[in-house]
Amino acid sequence: MTRHLITSAIPYINGIKHLGNLVGSQLPADLYARFQRSKGNEVLFLCATDEHGTPAELAAKKAGKPVAEYCAEMHAIQAEIARGFAMSFDHFGRSSSPQNHKLTQHFAGKLADNGLIREVSESQVYSNADGRFLPDRYIEGTCPNCNYDRARGDQCENCTKQLDPTDLIDPRSAISGSTDLEVRETKHLYLCQSNLKDDLDAWIDSKTDWPVLTTSIAKKWLHDGEGLKDRGITRDLDWGIPVRRGDADWPGMEGKVFYVWFDAPIEYIACAGEWAEATGGDWERWWRTDKGAEDVHYTQFMGKDNVPFHTLSFPATILGSGEPWKMVDHLKSFNYLNYDGGQFSTSQGRGIFMDQALEILPADYWRWWLLSHAPESSDSEFTWENFQASVNKDLADVLGNFVSRITKFCRSKFGEVVPEAGTYGPAEEALIVDLTDRVARYSALMEAMEVRKSAAELRAIWAAGNEYLQAEAPWTTFKTDPEKAAAQVRIALNLIPFYATLASPFIPGAAAKMLEAVHLEDTGFPSNVPAALAQMQAGQSFDVPEVLFAKITDEERADWETRFAGQRD
Ligand code: MF3
Ligand code: ZN
Repeated sequence: MTRHLITSAIPYINGIKHLGNLVGSQLPADLYARFQRSKGNEVLFLCATDEHGTPAELAAKKAGKPVAEYCAEMHAIQAEIARGFAMSFDHFGRSSSPQNHKLTQHFAGKLADNGLIREVSESQVYSNADGRFLPDRYIEGTCPNCNYDRARGDQCENCTKQLDPTDLIDPRSAISGSTDLEVRETKHLYLCQSNLKDDLDAWIDSKTDWPVLTTSIAKKWLHDGEGLKDRGITRDLDWGIPVRRGDADWPGMEGKVFYVWFDAPIEYIACAGEWAEATGGDWERWWRTDKGAEDVHYTQFMGKDNVPFHTLSFPATILGSGEPWKMVDHLKSFNYLNYDGGQFSTSQGRGIFMDQALEILPADYWRWWLLSHAPESSDSEFTWENFQASVNKDLADVLGNFVSRITKFCRSKFGEVVPEAGTYGPAEEALIVDLTDRVARYSALMEAMEVRKSAAELRAIWAAGNEYLQAEAPWTTFKTDPEKAAAQVRIALNLIPFYATLASPFIPGAAAKMLEAVHLEDTGFPSNVPAALAQMQAGQSFDVPEVLFAKITDEERADWETRFAGQRD
């Protein structure tokens, strides 16, 4: 048994996420967590809301609410939607938790003790019109790297370059649009990441099984000219974790908070503390290599824009502390999902948002499409046409139809019980051999987090059942050889719980319905195929389940296409 620590990039608190966000982090992380649990491994799967910084402040302002109240409400909403998508988090925490306050201040203290923090008197943009300093996201301008004209002060959305607000060309205030900006002096803490360059380089080199997308982004920021610049880790904001040196005050830093990208990844650890508080679990066993975490396998999931923070900034915090924290073993990153010829965009309200998706269809439909089209090797695109075609074919025609066809046929000829007569012949044995092969392949692909390929193999496993039924045609066999037909029905019925347990990481809702119909519990990943296909013994009762997947009609598709063509307000 292996112990798997799994984290998904923690979504910003500033609104409901769109399907592009979901497929880049929470959803594949959930797939992997469910798969590892089904393999009998111990899993701690954590996610949280990312509540600090200017995004939260700006969103609260827009909603006309105090920021703490806004965050509490949005956390509850995001938690509810995550439940709707069947996210199997062991805990869904908050980066504003007391645990994260304490741990963030602790890390800053350790880094300072180790000589990795310096105070910098910094020139910062001050807006005369707004009467305040404008940190990162409050400033927009042109990216010095790629010339994108809506780059933010912290990062360019277009080329993923991490920026400082003063790097921007033609900067303007994101609050008022004013260009009446001036540069004033203010004191901030800098993390001396550059001192850790060799350690980080060696650490990344040791990760030989990382995907190319991950390593190439990390190496780029490590070696590109000013790649690993020291980074400011404090901000002039009201909302956030107050700058303290461990338990002590930090003279000169009064009224300042830590930068959101400093405290957010620390929430991965703090979240385990929140989980421990809620459940009585032992979080150090998952996070401290001196307290049992040395044999934990840690996997992080995220979109590609998050990679620099996870391969460089957060590891710098951990390495720099000099303490025995568990570091990430595998980092799975995703490209972007586009929406119908453009980008999904939270700021522009373009695309389908998680709450809207659940209003029109159950989670399984979305989970299946998103995972089977995950943007792994390149960006991918959501179109309604493709969505309709995949759902109707894979879920309704292949899986749903198989289940309905065999249960209904059995009911009509043998009743709602597994028929007793008949023995398996060459066709059944060939099916078992084929499935044994495919299940081994599927398992290896899931283990390797090859999301699209896993979905394709699963689809092929479903199709094998249909092909078997098509070829053997028990409805025809029945007329001449009812005993043989009984054996055919028996193996086909056994495919239902088999498919359910294999598919449950992708479509947990339908999988549960399938198991319920055959009166069985999920007994975990069916590595032993012959045994798994003998689960439903002769005489065992079942129910013909209600329709598992309704087809998406052309009208529905046209309707949704129009409804989502505009922008969300
Ligand atoms: N909130 C960030 C985003 O959505 C992700 C933060 S991940 C963490 O892009 F590492 F900081 F936790
Ligand atoms: Zn750029």
